[in-house]
Amino acid sequence: MDYQKILREIEVEINALPDDGTVANYIPELAKVNPDRFGIHLTTVRNEHYAVGDSEVKFSIQSISKVFSLAMAFSLLGEKLWKRVGVEPSGNPFNSIVQLEYEHGIPRNPFVNAGALVVVDVLLSELKDPKGDLFAFVRSLTGSKDISYNPVVAQSEKETGHLNTAFVHMMKAKGNIVNDADDILEFYYKQCSIEMNCRELAEAFLHFGDNGLAYTHAGFSLTMSQVKRLNALMLSCGFYDESGQFAFKVGLAGKSGVGGGIAAVYPEEFAVAVWSPRLNKKGNSVRGFHSLELLTTKSESSIF
Ligand code: DON
Repeated sequence: MDYQKILREIEVEINALPDDGTVANYIPELAKVNPDRFGIHLTTVRNEHYAVGDSEVKFSIQSISKVFSLAMAFSLLGEKLWKRVGVEPSGNPFNSIVQLEYEHGIPRNPFVNAGALVVVDVLLSELKDPKGDLFAFVRSLTGSKDISYNPVVAQSEKETGHLNTAFVHMMKAKGNIVNDADDILEFYYKQCSIEMNCRELAEAFLHFGDNGLAYTHAGFSLTMSQVKRLNALMLSCGFYDESGQFAFKVGLAGKSGVGGGIAAVYPEEFAVAVWSPRLNKKGNSVRGFHSLELLTTKSESSIF
C-alpha cells in the first residue's frame, strides 16, 4: 500500500475545500491557534512512517488525552471501573449535564467530560504521583521524553470550565466522586492541555492497535481483551454525538479533541493522527474527519 501517495492526494483534496468550521473558542487560549494548520502522520505495525503537512507541530490534544487516562485507570481497577462509568454512547454533546442528573451521577462513558473526570478521580485515589505517572505513561507510549502540558492553556480552561466544575460537584453529591473537586479539575486541565504532534500521537495509538505486542508502559499493563475494549469505546463513544457518523463514514476506532486533533487505529495495520483546528458543531475537526474518510476509502482499510 502506497500510504505516502494516499496522504499526498488527501492533502491536495483537503486544501481545495472551503474553510468550514471554527476553532474552539470556549477555551480562549485555544482560539489563538492558526486555523490553517493541517498535518497527518500514519505509522504501521511494521514501523513504517508516512506524513504530510504540519505533522511535527505540537498542538493541544484535549480530549484525546482521555484515552491515556482511561487506559491507566482500566489497568488499575479492571472491570470494577465500569461500576462508576458506563460504556454506552451518550448521543449528547461532550459537555451536556442533563443526562448526568437523571442517570444518578454515573456518566454514560469515559469520554464525555463527566466520565473523564471520574477516571481522574480513580487515578488520584490509586496513585501516589498521578501527574508523574501520566506523563511517564504517555512518554513511554510515544518513546519521546519531550511531552508536557501547556500551563497557559490549563489556566485558561480552569478560568472558563464552569460546567466541568458543575459535573464534579453533581457527581460528588451523588456519591461518585471521592477526591477534592479542585484537585480533580487541576489534574484534568493539565491532562487536556498536553501538547503532542501527529507523529507522537500516531506512535502512542499504535499500541492500541498492535495485538502482537505486550501492553505494558510505565508499569501500566492491559490484557489484549482490555485493549480491544478501549478500541470498542473509541469506536462507539470517541466522537460524542457524532460517533455513529465516524463509524459510518470512516470506520476506524478513534478519538477527537477540541484542539482539532483526531487519532485513530486500524487494528493490526496502522495508527494515524490528523490535525486541523477548525471544528464542526459537534466539536470534531472538519478536515480531520474528512481526511480520515478519504484515507479509509482510498486505502480500503476500514475495520468493517
Ligand atoms: O473540558 C473540556 O471541555 C476540554 N478540556 C476537552 C473537551 C474536548 O476536547 C472535547 N472533544 N472533542
